[in-house]
Amino acid sequence: MNSTMPGRFGFHSIPFTREIRVADRFAHEAYERPREYLRRAVDKRMSAALIAPAGTGKTTLLRTLMGSLPESRYRVRYVKVTDLSKRDLCREIATSVGAEPAGNYPTLVRRLQERFTNDLDVDAVRPVLFLDDSHGMRPEVLGILRILTNFDMDSRLVLSFVLAGQPPLAQLLRDQRLVDVTHRLAHCATLRPLSRKETADYIEHRCRIAGAAAAPFDGSALPALYEIGRGNLRATDHLAPQALELAHDNQCDVVDAQHVTEARRLLWP
Ligand SMILES: Nc1ncnc2c1ncn2[C@@H]1O[C@H](COP(=O)(O)OP(=O)(O)OP(=O)(O)O)[C@@H](O)[C@H]1O
Ligand SMILES: [Mg+2]
Repeated sequence: MNSTMPGRFGFHSIPFTREIRVADRFAHEAYERPREYLRRAVDKRMSAALIAPAGTGKTTLLRTLMGSLPESRYRVRYVKVTDLSKRDLCREIATSVGAEPAGNYPTLVRRLQERFTNDLDVDAVRPVLFLDDSHGMRPEVLGILRILTNFDMDSRLVLSFVLAGQPPLAQLLRDQRLVDVTHRLAHCATLRPLSRKETADYIEHRCRIAGAAAAPFDGSALPALYEIGRGNLRATDHLAPQALELAHDNQCDVVDAQHVTEARRLLWP
């Protein structure tokens, strides 16, 4: 963002930044309701999935969910999963729980289970594992959740996991080899792109939390932002500040459709 932009539009901080605080989020029902269902699943000591397209707010929702699970009762760990082997996934999880990420696969599984049992039995907090970006996992690797959540011959609910990922995760969960994992899911949430009106409300909200009295986009800019961004939060977050910068450079006090179109050309030639 151009450093003089705040003066023109009244921002006191960078608008549309991904560094948004949970408290400043756009707390629309489209996010709050899925979050509540995920929280209820975890409350029941079950697991859940969150499946939605890129840039629709999954990771932000996980952050919000983490904030809504009190530290006095839950110990939440976040792991960003890529296409890892079983052992490497266990090593990533071990690192997130503060356990030594060394040893072979059975050793790592045992160490992780000990850590999760310890959370519950000694520290009296429920362990919860968020596995983000899990759509790229191989079925046999995702299958380790079946092993990791099997305590005392499957007679105890100790660990809850929340799998988040893009739509290929839904396909993955239909794999016959993963029925034991899907049976552990109490809820499967999704997120949708925002509607035209909701996108305008989102833009207004993002401008206000950055200090503006109102969103400096005119009646032609808002439809243009929706037509191009299609209610996808990340696309909107890229397009809107680029358009603001162009308006600023042209000494305009409001953004119009031309700025938005030009912003698209600069961002996605
Ligand atoms: N509830 C919200 N309020 C305000 N901004 C949000 C909210 N949810 C998401 N965003 C914004 O949208 C951007 C994209 O969100 P996020 O990274 O959570 O999407 P994602 O679904 O995890 O995408 P990917 O599949 O690529 O990981 C974030 O950088 C954030 O700025
Ligand atoms: Mg994400």
